[in-house]
Amino acid sequence: MSDTTDTKLESRLEEQETFEPPKSFVEQANVTDPAIRTEFEENWPECWERAAEFLSWDWEYDSVVDAADAPQYEWFTGGRLNASYNCLDRHVEDGAKNRAAIKWEGELGETRTYTYGELLNEVEAFAAALREMGVETGDAVTLYLPMVPELPVAMLACARLGAPHSVVFAGFSADALATRMRSSDSEYLVTCDGYYRRGEALNHGQKAKNGLRNVDHDVESIVVNRLGDESDSSFGDDAHDYGALVAEHEGASVPPVSRDAEDVLFLLYTSGTTGQPKGVEHATGGYLSYAAWTAHAVLDLEPTDTHWCTADIGWITGHSYVVYGPLALGATTFMYEGTPDYPDRDRFWKLIEKNRVDVFYTAPTAIRAFMKWGEEYPATHDLSSLRLLGSVGEPIDPHAWKWYYKHIGDEECPIVDTWWQTETGGTMVTTVPGIDTMKPGSAGPALPGIDARVVDADGDPVAPGNAGYLVIRKPWPGMLRTLYRNDERFRSEYWSEYSEPDEDEWIYFPEDGAKIDDDGYITVLGRVDDVINVSGHRLGTMEIESAIVDVAGVAEAAVVGADHDVKGEAVCAYVVLKNGEEPTVAMRDRIVESVEDGIGPIARPEKVVFTSELPKTRSDKIMRRLLENIANGEELGDTSTLRNPDAVETIARQVGDD
Ligand code: WTA
Repeated sequence: MSDTTDTKLESRLEEQETFEPPKSFVEQANVTDPAIRTEFEENWPECWERAAEFLSWDWEYDSVVDAADAPQYEWFTGGRLNASYNCLDRHVEDGAKNRAAIKWEGELGETRTYTYGELLNEVEAFAAALREMGVETGDAVTLYLPMVPELPVAMLACARLGAPHSVVFAGFSADALATRMRSSDSEYLVTCDGYYRRGEALNHGQKAKNGLRNVDHDVESIVVNRLGDESDSSFGDDAHDYGALVAEHEGASVPPVSRDAEDVLFLLYTSGTTGQPKGVEHATGGYLSYAAWTAHAVLDLEPTDTHWCTADIGWITGHSYVVYGPLALGATTFMYEGTPDYPDRDRFWKLIEKNRVDVFYTAPTAIRAFMKWGEEYPATHDLSSLRLLGSVGEPIDPHAWKWYYKHIGDEECPIVDTWWQTETGGTMVTTVPGIDTMKPGSAGPALPGIDARVVDADGDPVAPGNAGYLVIRKPWPGMLRTLYRNDERFRSEYWSEYSEPDEDEWIYFPEDGAKIDDDGYITVLGRVDDVINVSGHRLGTMEIESAIVDVAGVAEAAVVGADHDVKGEAVCAYVVLKNGEEPTVAMRDRIVESVEDGIGPIARPEKVVFTSELPKTRSDKIMRRLLENIANGEELGDTSTLRNPDAVETIARQVGDD
């Protein structure tokens, strides 16, 4: 293509505000009838049977939703099922034993494929080992593993036994692991010796071992040997070897334990306003139905597809769309261990070409990095196997959307910009790709059956185009059931803002700002609580602050998100030192190190600003909004409510001088 044609094309795209789903896509799409929205609305809640139909039930449910304990709604009550049976056995019984369930590539280029038959065998062998070790129905098993196939194996083995898993992102620190194990009373840990990042072997085993030092109860550990000869034996004889266990139990038959639809499938910790991470609890029937239904309707997955969701399984996106959704539908899920720029910046495109990936689901932060690296990287690869593209984790701006559409999708793949959260279990606000017009920058309408609104502080609908708060008015099957051992916090975090308990009206508040257009399309603006979104990772500012004030000599800290062109937001920390302490480079290093130790390198402050005081209201609340303005070099808003208005000027000057 000549330069002029290319420029013309670019400017046409830049001006275009809406995009119709390509005909070739619509012709084969799973969901194509626009009447589905009215159908779901008119038949609510029975419409959700449509999601439950994606699963095989051991026992039929009596009712779709039970609101007796609202907002702790129960879904598909009376029904029984097993998630691992639904993701494995039934596909094998249906003749798919030789179809690939997981295709995996390590960062160094080694590959592994597990057919459905092989995956079932390994899951049964590992489940037998766990059972022998004493794991019983209801026991929380912590999985602290990177992107290796043993992670989904362990998840499904837990599900088979009815033992809730609690996956801890491998990038989290030893302390973060310990906090989560203590909080979930987890007595079992599956981890590994290490894994590769940019060609280097990371000593994950040592980190896990350090974490266990801060867990007072006894823990049985199982270690996957990922590094072969390079393996470090941090655990020595204190742990079981995964490979040996699986070999020992090869051929074992472990019948799937029939679970009540409401039994917990897993816990997943996420960040909220306070310093303590929240243990989000998902139930077997509702969660799995919703993951399968949305993978079908939104990701358009078919059993013949190879699906690549680039999220780490340590986050909800990986749970729902690397593991449970694709496997429940009998598709092939692709996993990659490493980074997109190792050994070169075309690694993802190489993987798509080589594995003939049909559906690709990634995060805006990755797309922004790809844009920066340049279109020549995807251009040298055959990406024609792609049929649908997805985006998740943070808002995607129209420019990045269009780049993705053109340079990855060749203008032939619809893009689904999916808004959802750890708590929602699956996607909630997005276009249905076979039906809806796409508007770059706007996630789209709520999915059929989801009642999403944008309201003001009083709960009244805002006028189209104005900013307000996103709320969800009716329950849905994928919703969290509660926060682990904390029904109180569950109610206060999500249901206290807009609900009218006296009228038995329950409204879920996800803590996101949004605006809505005339046509019902929702643009999500970002968190309105003290949570920041760094490269699509959800981090609590209070957790970071508490790691900073742990450093000797620090008096006070406030953390905000500063705009960042690739990460979306970057961590910016304002730190007040105790009298007599000097703001030295060594002090800055100790602060950064403490955050890495307390949470992990993802939470590393990009900027540390030492200041003599923090702007506070008369009631002594830190005005983070002003600190955010300063970090972003924006106009300072109203400072008249401050107890110490001068502080703002001083900090702004300091940041300017930096
Ligand atoms: C943000 C990730 C805009 C949002 C699935 C939400 C988004 C938080 C989008 C949840 C999107 C996720 N557009 N913002 N398409 N998707 N978010 O729990 O602020 O890790 O509340 O779940 O990510 O993050 P979580």
